[in-house]
Amino acid sequence: MRLVVLVSGSGRNLQALLEHAAAGRLGASIAAVISNRAEAPALQRARAAGVPALCLPHGDYPSRQAFDAALAEVIDRFEPQLLAMAGFMRVLGRDFVERFEGRMLNIHPSLLPRHPGLDTHQKVLDAAEPEHGATVHFVTPEVDGGPPVIQGRIGVPPRCTAATLGDKVMREVELRIYPQAVAWFARGALVLRQGRVWFRGVPLVEPLGLDDLEEPFR
Ligand code: GRF
Repeated sequence: MRLVVLVSGSGRNLQALLEHAAAGRLGASIAAVISNRAEAPALQRARAAGVPALCLPHGDYPSRQAFDAALAEVIDRFEPQLLAMAGFMRVLGRDFVERFEGRMLNIHPSLLPRHPGLDTHQKVLDAAEPEHGATVHFVTPEVDGGPPVIQGRIGVPPRCTAATLGDKVMREVELRIYPQAVAWFARGALVLRQGRVWFRGVPLVEPLGLDDLEEPFR
């Protein structure tokens, strides 16, 4: 399976995907990494792994639609079966999302539907919530609103900051659940059908969790 990854930032999730792909555990090869920011460290990670790394600065396009159309065209050149957004900080329009519907995943650092949008770790601390986590979901036109696939939960430790909590969510949840979700998709275990997630032929009634991780992803 061919995968294209969209990034904007540091690329820790991308790194996990690159490493699992190189080790043959993803069932997918990363055909390209595309950023909307030239300075994204994620691009260096892709190049270091020998993966084509491209940048389309969104500011170079006169409108959101023009950027989306250019991005879709570049992606199509690589003929991916799956598009993974990994810290891609740009909202994509309905036309783009519908074009890739059912073959586009995103990872979001919260227990969706709680805390869509930015600054999720601070929001969890401000609300004194006891638990936090991250969610991999199929992308639909509603931002952070698509059907969830897997959600990893952790307890919020006392005396943490948004930064330390974010690191914990990244290490203990994100870097595990995203490669696992991609691996499931690659082997056809995960399908979006009529707005619902089907896993191994059965519709999910709730997202999968850390207990469902297979050995290489734990
Ligand atoms: C992650 O927390 C991801 O869930 C969110 O943006 C962050 C990206 O981090 N969408 P990185 O680029 O993978 O290091």
